Amino acid sequence: MRILLTGGSGFIGSHIALLLLERGFDVLILDSFINSSYNVIYRIENYLDNKKINSKLETVVGDIRNKKLLNNIFSDSIKEEKPIDAVIHLAGLKSVSDSLINPLHYWDVNVLGTLNLLLTMKEFECYSLIFSSSATIYGLSDTVPMAEDHKISPINPYGQTKVAIENMFHDLYNSNINFWKICSLRYFNPVGAHPSGLIGEDPIGNPNNLFPFLTQVAIGRQKLLKVFGDNWDTKDGSGIRDYIHIVDLAEGHLACIDYLNSKDACLEFINLGSGKGYSVFQIIRQFELSTGCQIPFSIQSRRDGDVAECYADISKARKLLGWTPLKSLDQICIDGWNWQMKNPNGYS
Ligand code: NAD
Ligand code: UD1
Repeated sequence: MRILLTGGSGFIGSHIALLLLERGFDVLILDSFINSSYNVIYRIENYLDNKKINSKLETVVGDIRNKKLLNNIFSDSIKEEKPIDAVIHLAGLKSVSDSLINPLHYWDVNVLGTLNLLLTMKEFECYSLIFSSSATIYGLSDTVPMAEDHKISPINPYGQTKVAIENMFHDLYNSNINFWKICSLRYFNPVGAHPSGLIGEDPIGNPNNLFPFLTQVAIGRQKLLKVFGDNWDTKDGSGIRDYIHIVDLAEGHLACIDYLNSKDACLEFINLGSGKGYSVFQIIRQFELSTGCQIPFSIQSRRDGDVAECYADISKARKLLGWTPLKSLDQICIDGWNWQMKNPNGYS
């Protein structure tokens, strides 16, 4: 199979690309590199060479909002008799805080970009799609774990764009239920890195998320970790989240391809998380235990828009995809630290 992977050089995309190629898929990455480095591609190519893997990796530098480019990609693939069998669509913007400042930019890239992609897929009769949705669409909640039928009420523009896209899938699927095969995967907190240490998370500027901030404290790029609140209504007062190893998350996409291949048509919304909730203090303690690093931290006030507790009910993914996350929090810390140690300044 040949897969078009948009956003394939980003944190999540690079791990999916590597896994797809290792399993014999050909991969065409489309990425604007607005939030990633071309070194990711070189590293994946080196990895393939070293392991003597023959799957084909091609890369197009471009924007999903460029209709002409999308059209060329699909028409070339037909001319060259290597059609695109399915699309995994991850290209987009993902910062909650940035989306509050630049909402229209988020609607433009995330929603318009996805609309362009769907229009092109329809034109070229490519009907299989896996999309990167987010747990952020569930918004504030008192009930955990969150299953897919949890109320949808995003509290920021980033989340709104994910909901708009999921609504587009509903309309599209209902318009012709014989054709489309769509899985919208709602990720919780993907963290860690590939065990090789070749690829990992390399946020531009200061990290907003806990895990990359913590590894940057450990390597000395940040002085101390700010813990956003120790007075939440949780077991130790700090916020609880669902951290899933990035390789487990990537495996979920492989399982999803198998699922799509087994169906004539479908539209599914599926949580991908570990199904477990860990507090910020637990993460710090486990990281120290797994790596031997000390993490200095200070308690700060709560961060705007945060919730006390958020973790996934993953029974649907287990049942439908036959997928289950395998990697422990210990492994997450070991692999995340291995990546950070080998790449103290990320890809640069
Ligand atoms: P990332 O920023 O590392 O990767 C996204 C990639 O898309 C980047 O390589 C970027 O250059 C590319 N891109 C951005 N705009 C583009 C455009 N207009 N055209 C082409 N390429 C473009 O982010 P990630 O963490 O790998 O996230 C991937 C997807 O998963 C995103 O859609 C994100 O919303 C979603 N998601 C991420 C998380 C998370 O915690 N990382 C959680 C839930 C959902
Ligand atoms: C955040 C986003 C969410 C998005 C996800 C993935 C917000 C409010 N939520 O989720 O919409 O889908 O990233 O991109 O931005 N924490 C600290 N110190 C830090 C960073 C975080 O204590 O320096 C705490 C937070 O308060 C939270 C936990 O660590 O309790 C995890 O935070 P984070 O990694 O940012 O993930 P989310 O808040 O789950």
